Amino acid sequence: MSGFPQPMHRRHFLAGAATGLTALGLTTASTARAAPLPSPPTTWTQALLDADPRLIAFVNGTEHDQAARIEGRLPRGLAGVLYRNGPGLFEHGSDRYRHWFDGDGLIQRWSIGPQGVSYRSRFAATPKFRTEHKAGQFVLPVSGGGIRPAAAFAGANSVNPSNTAVLPVNGALWALWEGGSPLQLDPASLAAGNHVDLGDGTGGAPFSAHPRVGADGRVWNVGSLGSRVLLYRLDQTGRLEAARVQPLGQPGYYHDFILTERSLVLVQCSTAPDGRQSLINGSFGSMRGVAGKPMKVHVFDRESFELVRQAELPPGFAFHFGNGWEEADGTIRFDIVHDPNGDEMLEFFKPMEGRFPTWGSATCLVILPPKGAPRFEPIMARTEFPVINPALRTRRNRYVYASALTGGNPEGWFTAVTKIDLDRNAHQVCEFGPDWLVEEHVFVPDPKGRREDHGWLVGSALNWRLGKTALTVIDARDLERGPIAKAWLDLAQPLRLHAQFV
Ligand SMILES: [Fe+2]
Repeated sequence: MSGFPQPMHRRHFLAGAATGLTALGLTTASTARAAPLPSPPTTWTQALLDADPRLIAFVNGTEHDQAARIEGRLPRGLAGVLYRNGPGLFEHGSDRYRHWFDGDGLIQRWSIGPQGVSYRSRFAATPKFRTEHKAGQFVLPVSGGGIRPAAAFAGANSVNPSNTAVLPVNGALWALWEGGSPLQLDPASLAAGNHVDLGDGTGGAPFSAHPRVGADGRVWNVGSLGSRVLLYRLDQTGRLEAARVQPLGQPGYYHDFILTERSLVLVQCSTAPDGRQSLINGSFGSMRGVAGKPMKVHVFDRESFELVRQAELPPGFAFHFGNGWEEADGTIRFDIVHDPNGDEMLEFFKPMEGRFPTWGSATCLVILPPKGAPRFEPIMARTEFPVINPALRTRRNRYVYASALTGGNPEGWFTAVTKIDLDRNAHQVCEFGPDWLVEEHVFVPDPKGRREDHGWLVGSALNWRLGKTALTVIDARDLERGPIAKAWLDLAQPLRLHAQFV
């Protein structure tokens, strides 16, 4: 295991780890479920719904257990659990957050099998959540502001909402944020344990919500540290193999990255600190877009973590990448969801103000030769949440699937799922229709399938007109059929972020 290159880095992390949970007296694992929260509608929720009934997508979610009602026919080979995480608690007493990303994590678990589909949702019972639940109000500072903190910031994990994604690890489940450590969850009950301390001084350090898994099952990840980045490599059981801090010369925000069979590729967006003091290194609350500033690509050897190449891309911002792979001559190809607006993060203040975000993002292809300028080719506008067949991670893939906003109005939420054919520069669309707000769909391979697109796109969507959320299944070979099965809840849950199928 390689340690940090300089002693100061190690001290930095140890200090962060020591102050977080202990200062709140919450270092003991809790498997107790929090008592139910007050249900909407509150005054603010009602104002949102009066303004636009679609905004039911951004009100407090609820803890819930239910057998879902099946419409259509579930594919015979589809069995497993879809987990999804995302912000789910925005309003507490008379306080509400200003930025969508600040909401506490609400984990949902859809169990799919011959018996049908059952649903469970639980708030991520972090130290932050338990402290605020006990207090009956928000008391800890958040990146987007909007509350008067009544409890001291005591390290990143004291404010960690564990609200962005999940990672299945060796039979366990971690709820991920990006500014602090993973949170351990029981994969069946969703009861929370402690934040994970990976060791080597990384406890409490930023750990992104988009770890990448190699073909051998090892896991790579990054953490934003101002003008440095923390690179992680974990073995197949989730134990830390290596961690290293690398300087990047200027502050950046790293939500996601690309992993190939040899490289870890980091894209530094066209942002700079806005001058405000931020509690969380490189968080959305601390960065602003810089017009005309090129994005910068940093290529690291994924085993040694040495920086091996750098390149520039057109200005803009990117949260997500679908996949990347490397050719024999060292050419790296990857897809990027690129928004020329470097302030894309500001769009997500809007839902808390009663408006939908405006989407300027497009899926683009980047071809990075060993020498010379990269090629940058737009492929499909107004798309987000790219996924691929997980069997092809780090290797050449033909298809990328993504959520899509169709209909021409850039303001709103996704109403479709698309299948992009990178080889033919063509796409297919599964339209849900105007009553739907569509969340990320992940690719689940058909166990009997042989081709890259033999499988299903499994996700969830909110029918705002009916006020109901459903699990939705799409045949990845034929998106234009529309969803082939839905599993309905009898209530609406807020839109959430990333899913994993186990
Ligand atoms: Fe993300």
